[in-house]
Amino acid sequence: MGSLADLTRGGLLYGGDYNPEQWSREIWRQDVAAMREAGVTLVTVGVFSWALLEPERDRFELAWMDEVLDLLHAGGIAVDLATPTASPPPWLALEDPETLPTDASGHRLHHGSRTHYCPSSSTYRERAQIITQVIAERWVSHPAVVLWHVNNELGTTCWCPRCGRAFRGWLERRYGTVEAVNEAWGTTVWSQRYTSWEQISPPLRAPYLLHPGLTLDYRRFTSDALRELYRSERAVIRAVDPARPVTTNFMGFFAGVDYRSWAGEIDVISDDSYPDPADPDAPSQAALTHDLMRSLAGGPWLLMEQATSAVSWRGHNVPKTTARMRQDALRAVAHGADGVLSFQWRASPTGPERFHSAMLPHAGTDTRVHRAVQELGRDLRALSAMAGTDVHAEVAILFDWSSWWAAEEPAVPSDRLRVLPQLRAWYRPLWEAGIGVDVVDPHADLARYRLVLAPQLYLLDDEAVTNLRGYLARGGCLALGPFSAVADGNARVRTGGFPVPFADLLDASGEEWWPLPEGGAGLVPDAVGPTSLGTGHAETWAERLRLHGPGAVCELRFEGGDLDGEPALVRSRDGGLHYLATMPDAALLKRWLLGLLARRGIGPAHRVPAVPDGVEVAQRGPFTLVINHRPTEVDVPLSTPHLDVLEDVEHVDHVHLSPGGSIVLRKALP
Ligand code: GLA
Ligand code: ZN
Repeated sequence: MGSLADLTRGGLLYGGDYNPEQWSREIWRQDVAAMREAGVTLVTVGVFSWALLEPERDRFELAWMDEVLDLLHAGGIAVDLATPTASPPPWLALEDPETLPTDASGHRLHHGSRTHYCPSSSTYRERAQIITQVIAERWVSHPAVVLWHVNNELGTTCWCPRCGRAFRGWLERRYGTVEAVNEAWGTTVWSQRYTSWEQISPPLRAPYLLHPGLTLDYRRFTSDALRELYRSERAVIRAVDPARPVTTNFMGFFAGVDYRSWAGEIDVISDDSYPDPADPDAPSQAALTHDLMRSLAGGPWLLMEQATSAVSWRGHNVPKTTARMRQDALRAVAHGADGVLSFQWRASPTGPERFHSAMLPHAGTDTRVHRAVQELGRDLRALSAMAGTDVHAEVAILFDWSSWWAAEEPAVPSDRLRVLPQLRAWYRPLWEAGIGVDVVDPHADLARYRLVLAPQLYLLDDEAVTNLRGYLARGGCLALGPFSAVADGNARVRTGGFPVPFADLLDASGEEWWPLPEGGAGLVPDAVGPTSLGTGHAETWAERLRLHGPGAVCELRFEGGDLDGEPALVRSRDGGLHYLATMPDAALLKRWLLGLLARRGIGPAHRVPAVPDGVEVAQRGPFTLVINHRPTEVDVPLSTPHLDVLEDVEHVDHVHLSPGGSIVLRKALP
């Protein structure tokens, strides 16, 4: 079976979504010529072409696609050929309205947009398989096709009666009996005990809060149902073509699907990334998402979609400067992407995305954006040796979809303690220091990590607890953030002093969550602990903890407010387990995390001795990416001579960057 490595023998991939069905033959020719000029090597074709490939049931019009593929091939451009199943044609919706999804109020949605499919509709699935079969058979031997692309951003949640039926089947396979479901969810609360399968529905809108056991399992079910759609199309492709890899594009930290449970079935992990140029935190957030993708892939992944400039789906769509576009692309590569593709090649004059940027704007080739696109093509060619290289990470951040889902149900102590903001807050200091980080499953083998961080891991099932305790027993170091290890695998709160599964190792435990009133609380180093952490502030969250015995070392205490003098940060005496029962200000959080790195002897793999503020550094294999986010020039020190890979010059002890500039260095041979 093929993999990304088969596609990147010639270097990094470059290109975008290509929607030739929107254009005339004359334009196709111009497109291929302009793609060649821009250094494009791979385009995704066919994502939204169902209505053109099959204008009516079982009548297929495929010749136009033959022509497109031939033209691309003649131009030396490879194709990621998509199944068009993300947007069924209007005739299918009218022929069988049950192919359409239903919302949480039980109302069926209409066609006229895209992603209007119910994952449980047998008609939808059957028609999706048929069009997939037609496509696979027609183009299996086409020399342009190097990758198959199933659907697009699979992610529709549906609450229809069919999904209800499928959900009950899913529950039956998981739990066996209705009694076991009652037991797992704890339905004695609010008189919700079920006495037959038929009584269980999707979590449709109800007068008041829904049962968190039901909503969690419905999310798990939906993720599995969508994975089943992926699998069913992949099976059709595999039967026709056992060789080429199959992908489907992810959406980063997307809440609708547990990508980790999908990853093993996807030959090329690919992601769509749209960092907001107006958000100062976007570069670090994008880097974290890239690290998630690399971790899901266990190596290189593919940036399937990004924007060359503005998107059109935010309220106010700030464009990317040329420098920003280059930064975003190079960052993805530095975090393990083996290709950069954009949505889309040529800007659409019609449709909802008529104002979305493209590689070739409405204004044509003689434009800033298109020149930047050509330059990026040249840069990526010069960086071809980066393809296939590794990112070395000694730090793992634990992240789990079930935990995310369960933590963000309503009616928790505070809706201000959110999973992604916590993850991002802990990641940011590591990103600023240019430290390699993997984003991993709490069930994963953690032996290779010197430090494991769990910024917010609310739900932790018994296997994961055993795994983490085993990691600690073998000398690992685990830092748990606030409100972690609270619930078991069924989202049932673990009873006892928290963090219940680790309190014995900590020799301390908590008894009350304490969201802070206006003004928050101070944080001060404990008198007997190391004072290097300094003082700080907690605005949002606290917990009431108690130290039990000499096994616990208190490093920070709350100052002022209701918890004055109580522990805020505790570690086990052996330094293995750390429990931070609050959300400190960014500066204190950074000092603490950098202190943990120092204690564990973890340093960056790059050779930038002190990364200046406002400078981003990322290391991939022997390559160092340096980005200057400052509005002014900056000198970045180097501890060893480096070669500037793009400019082909040597930098001995420092490198100079213009405002917004990014460079890729490689350690010079002695
Ligand atoms: C998604 C989709 C694309 C396009 C872009 C626009 O990623 O997959 O079809 O709509 O968003 O940003
Ligand atoms: Zn449905």
